[in-house]
Amino acid sequence: PAPGWSISADVVVVGSGVAGLTAALRCQAAGLTTVVVTKARLDDGSTRWAQGGVAAALGEGDTPEQHLDDTLVAGAGLCDEEAVRILVTEGPDAVRRLIETGAHFDESAEGGLELTREGGHHRRRIAHAGGDATGAEISRALVEALHARGLRAIENALVLDLLTDADGRTAGVTLHVMGEGQHDGVGAVHAPTVVLATGGMGQVFSATTNPSVSTGDGVALALRAGAEVSDLEFVQFHPTVLFLGADAEGQQPLVSEAVRGEGAHLVDADGVRFMVGQHELAELAPRDIVAKGIMRRMQEQDAEHMFLDARHFGADMWEHRFPTILAACRAHGIDPVHEPIPIAPAAHYASGGVRTDSHGRTTVPGLYACGEVACTGVHGANRLASNSLLEGLVYAERIVADITSGRARDGLHARVPAPVAQPEKPAHPLLAPEDRFTIQRIMTEGAGVLRSADSLDRAAGQLQRLHSEARDALDENGKTAEPGVDTWEATNLLCVARVLVAAAGQREETRGCHWREDHADRDDSAWRRHIVVRLNPDRS
Ligand code: SIN
Repeated sequence: PAPGWSISADVVVVGSGVAGLTAALRCQAAGLTTVVVTKARLDDGSTRWAQGGVAAALGEGDTPEQHLDDTLVAGAGLCDEEAVRILVTEGPDAVRRLIETGAHFDESAEGGLELTREGGHHRRRIAHAGGDATGAEISRALVEALHARGLRAIENALVLDLLTDADGRTAGVTLHVMGEGQHDGVGAVHAPTVVLATGGMGQVFSATTNPSVSTGDGVALALRAGAEVSDLEFVQFHPTVLFLGADAEGQQPLVSEAVRGEGAHLVDADGVRFMVGQHELAELAPRDIVAKGIMRRMQEQDAEHMFLDARHFGADMWEHRFPTILAACRAHGIDPVHEPIPIAPAAHYASGGVRTDSHGRTTVPGLYACGEVACTGVHGANRLASNSLLEGLVYAERIVADITSGRARDGLHARVPAPVAQPEKPAHPLLAPEDRFTIQRIMTEGAGVLRSADSLDRAAGQLQRLHSEARDALDENGKTAEPGVDTWEATNLLCVARVLVAAAGQREETRGCHWREDHADRDDSAWRRHIVVRLNPDRS
C-alpha cells in the first residue's frame, strides 16, 4: 500500500532489543538523526525475557581465546572464526560500556562481577542481573537511556518492506502504525541507512520461549528485498523449558541454563541422571547435545517430559539467585524447592538469519542487521549459551562504526563461495490471522527438534497449500485478508517457515541443532558449508 505519511532520518533502526537500542543510542551519540521503530512497546521483544546473562571473558584467568574455543566447539564446525574472534575480543569492553550506559549487574562479595556457568562453557563467564532477570535489567537501562537522551521512537510500528532507490540501495522502510497519533496507518521513514534488529522467529513453532512478537519480520522483509539469508535450518531448542502439557502453545516459561550452571541435575522419572556419561560436561554439555539427550530419554521411556532437580539449592538460594524462575514455577503450581521441575525442549533461538559481514552489512547496500535477526557467523550450527546478548552489543557497535566511517553504502561483498538456493518467491498475498496457528502446528510436527525427509516434505507441501490458497483468493477477488499486524505476522511466518523447511530438507546430515533422524551423522565432506537463500525481490 502507498504510504500516507513520511518522515526522514539519517538512520532508521527497526527493533528495540539490546541490539537495536545499542545501535540507536550510539548512532545518536555520533550525531546522526536516528529514529527507532518497534512493532509493539519498546520493551516487548525477546531481550526482556533473557535470563542467564551475557557471556564475556571478564573473570580472572579467563581469556577471549578460551571463550573462542567454547564458541567454536558449540558451533559444530560452521562458525566463522573471524566473526567469533571479534565477538570474544570486543565483548568485554562492550559489556563495560553497557554498564556505563546504566545496566546494573550482580556483584560478588568482593565487589567484582559475579559470574555463572552455562552449557558449553568451561568457565564461569556469564554476567547476570537481578539473579535471573538479566534481559529485563538491560532492557530497562537502554529504554531509560533512550528517554533520557530524547531519542525518537515510534511504537506499535510494524515494518512492512524496504524502500530502495533506482540503484537498489536502501532508501528507508514502510510501516504499518496503529495508535500513535499523527503517524497512524501506513507510512514511511526515508533514510539511506536501515538497521534491522527485529529479533527472532520462535513463533514459527507452537511452543517457544519467545514472546508473541517474534515472528521473523526482519528476515521476511530482507527476503522480500532480495537480501541473502543464511543458516535458517539451525533453530535452537532450549533444553529446559517448563513443561505445561504436550499441547501447550505460545510463549513458555524458560528455566535458565544457569540453574544447571549452579548445579541442578537433569533426571528422568526414576531420578536417574541420564546426561552423566553422555558428555564430559554432563548437564553442562552444549545446548544441542543436552536437548538431544532429553529427547532421546523421552523417546526411550515414552515420556512427555524429563525433570530438572534443584531441591538441594534450598529456599534461600532459589529466592535470591533465581527469583524469576521460582515465581514462574510457583505460578504453575510447581515448587522447585520441594519437587523436581518438569521440563522439555522448546524453540528458543534462530542461529541463522540475514547474512552479514563483520561490519553488520547485508547484501543490500545501506541495509544492516544485528542481533538475532542477523547471521554474522558467530553461532554456526548451534549458538553457545549467553552469546546472543553479547552479539547484539558487539555487532550493533560495529555497525555504528561502519556507518560513521563513511563506508556505509558499499554493501557486503561475498567472502566465501556459497550455494545459493532460489526457491519460489515468498508469500505476498496476506494470510488470515488464524493461519499463524496452522503454520505453528505444521512446523512443530514437520520441522521441530527431530526432522526427516518425510516430515519436511509433508511440511513443505502443507505450507505450499496455505500459500496457494492465499494466492488463489488474491487472483479471484483481487484481495486477501485485511492488512493489519496479525495478517502481516502470519504472512511473515509463512515466508520464513517455507525457507526454513527448504533449507532443513536440503541439509542431509545431523549437525548442531539440526537433527535428522534419516541422516544421523555429521557429514563434513558434503556439508561443512552454509545454505544461503536469496529470493527475487517481489514488491508487487
Ligand atoms: C538461559 O538463560 O538459559 C538462556 C541463555 C541463552 O539462551 O543464551
